[in-house]
Amino acid sequence: MNDGNLNTYNSSNVINWYVDLNEITKVEEFLFESNANILTNATVLDVGIGGGRTTAYLLDKCANYIGIDYSQGFVDVVKQKYPKANIQLADARDLIQFEDKKFNIVNFSFNGIDYVDLNNRKKILSEINRVLKPNGLFFFSTHNKNHFTFDRQPWTNKNNSFFTNFKTFIKLLPFLPKHARKKKKEIRFSDHAIINDSAHNYSLMTFYTSPQFLRKQLHTHSFTDIQLFTKNAKHANENALDDWIFVSCKKSLS
Ligand SMILES: C[S@@+](CC[C@H](N)C(=O)[O-])C[C@H]1O[C@@H](n2cnc3c(N)ncnc32)[C@H](O)[C@@H]1O
Repeated sequence: MNDGNLNTYNSSNVINWYVDLNEITKVEEFLFESNANILTNATVLDVGIGGGRTTAYLLDKCANYIGIDYSQGFVDVVKQKYPKANIQLADARDLIQFEDKKFNIVNFSFNGIDYVDLNNRKKILSEINRVLKPNGLFFFSTHNKNHFTFDRQPWTNKNNSFFTNFKTFIKLLPFLPKHARKKKKEIRFSDHAIINDSAHNYSLMTFYTSPQFLRKQLHTHSFTDIQLFTKNAKHANENALDDWIFVSCKKSLS
């Protein structure tokens, strides 16, 4: 799963797609602004920066910014876009170059944590916990397995018109043979799954989690104050979340 995803994140069409993203979402803005007093003096690790969407926002808002990505292609474009920013090639599964308790805030936006399997997801959570200061904040988002869009082809969305769904089907049709091959590698459990959804024309294997599984996993990795949000920055319980679950949590003190 992992190397295939890295190949996708190193491909020029995917890199070009992310380079054009500059806006942060309502929920991201809410999380950063409601912690503005911490952010101003913070040393921030921004993981999986892609085309630098969050770099643009965070760079001048914190005391010390480090952005990392495991894709050399993304690192190169963000270095070019923000020559003054500290941008490094690094894999979230092994943050050996950063000492324990270095960061006040770690951010891993737009579901970047979902492109590894379960064992590697555990490694990422351990590493992020290690490099955070006690009480340090961790913001991220992840795909919601309990949302009605999970495991549904995008052209079957009942919220869209017949015409929109038909256009989506025609657009994705050439990629269905690739999807059929990748589908053989899918893994499903009741509370989490790894599937080949239609993102970037069926190019990625993506981890989906139930909110319950997510909470349990964060507790196991010594995160507390776990709060789940919708895209519109609404606090949500397990049943009222969107297709992406936005998370704010803290490294526990002990
Ligand atoms: C969905 S994109 C999001 C990009 C960017 N954060 C944004 O919000 O526009 C996921 C990003 O995470 C990076 N990524 C995925 N797994 C990673 C890992 N293990 N270590 C570092 N970066 C990773 C990918 O290369 C990609 O840039």
